[in-house]
Amino acid sequence: MTPTTRLAGRIRVPGDKSVSHRALMLGAIAEGVTTADGFLASEDCLATLKALSALGVKIERPAPTSVRIEGVGLRGLRGVTAALDMGNAGTAMRLFMGLLSGQSFTSTLIGDSSLMRRPMERAAAPLRRMGASIETREGKPPVVIQGGCDLTGIDFDMPVASAQVKSAVLLAGLYARGETRVTEPAPTRDHTERMLQGFGVDLGREGATVTLRAPTKLTGCHVDVPADFSSAAFFMVAGCLASEGELHLERVGMNPTRTGLLDILLAMGANIEVRDLRTAGPEPTADLIIRPSRLRGIEVRPEWVPLAIDEFPVFFIAAACAEGESVLRGAEELRVKESDRLAVMSAGLTALGVDHELLHDGMRLAGAHSNGPVFQSGRIDSHGDHRIAMSFAVASLRAAGPIEIDDTANVATSFPGFAALARGCGLELREVA
Ligand code: S3P
Repeated sequence: MTPTTRLAGRIRVPGDKSVSHRALMLGAIAEGVTTADGFLASEDCLATLKALSALGVKIERPAPTSVRIEGVGLRGLRGVTAALDMGNAGTAMRLFMGLLSGQSFTSTLIGDSSLMRRPMERAAAPLRRMGASIETREGKPPVVIQGGCDLTGIDFDMPVASAQVKSAVLLAGLYARGETRVTEPAPTRDHTERMLQGFGVDLGREGATVTLRAPTKLTGCHVDVPADFSSAAFFMVAGCLASEGELHLERVGMNPTRTGLLDILLAMGANIEVRDLRTAGPEPTADLIIRPSRLRGIEVRPEWVPLAIDEFPVFFIAAACAEGESVLRGAEELRVKESDRLAVMSAGLTALGVDHELLHDGMRLAGAHSNGPVFQSGRIDSHGDHRIAMSFAVASLRAAGPIEIDDTANVATSFPGFAALARGCGLELREVA
């Protein structure tokens, strides 16, 4: 990868991963047909699709980004003896744990080497309190969910701010006797709540608490999947770091529980315009126009952390290029993502000569001291983490020479076509076999 400084174009990044997983799952247990446009056909979402097909749900793809799901109803899934492979997808595994807790059959969930190392007790523990019988191996996959358990609603005070855990409990709540209540320590993405309402489920929301009573049915519907804010994030930072050009990102998801990075970048002085905010559907969208920006260092506010949880790898790239110090604290969750994102980003920043301090729950970055290149030429190990790979691709805009990034195949888990789209905007990026 070699540096270039002009980025321009009008693009639509692929569909939202969180919304795509949920559309498949809720469509599967709904009555009638559910269709989704803008669906993300990435490896993660295709793992969910494949698992649901194995469970007896007919899902068609009339176009690469459209799905048509023939719902089997709340009790219509069919068990399989083979393990369901979630690949790299933590969201798929934790949401399936909730969904499968209420079934009459037993299921086993496995994943790739990264997912097999990730913590599953955070979802298993509240599900057990509901009456589910779940086994993990020292807290990690494989996860075995026994069938035939009667679930009862609980009042769950969530210890970690996690939308996956919240969603797992709500999905189990669809099968529970009585009321299921989840209270979050801080707002996290609320796609499950919004989509359940779209499928006709009556859901109460008061302050930090969501309340659900098992419905008699979900009704199939149409889901318009917005472009993924987390994929747009790479282009938002890239557009700021470029020295010329203007990037237009179309119909980006603007759910306020997802847009923390926009607030952070704007507070850093980014030249980003939000145009044509559409709030009609369950998931708001807008077009974003990004222009070259002089960024200032920032202390990330604690309430931004869950709202930008997937964007910190690329935030570190922006912070490295900003004038003055930046600090992120309270983000220990980054250590249990697809990789330990604090450690892996720190190693990459060190390889590129960036002055920073790794903290147990975040990072301190000194910021750029001149207008020249911020990153030295070097080689990065992305540890198979899609967002690490794409973040260092963005860093190439301000690098003194090529940056080589290893282990990048998993970019396809969330952003198929990233390299081609980035190249089309002017990023000099070459894929090497
Ligand atoms: C997601 C929730 C977040 C996020 C992940 C997607 C979801 O995980 O990091 O990429 O779709 O619910 P946590 O719930 O572990 O914070």
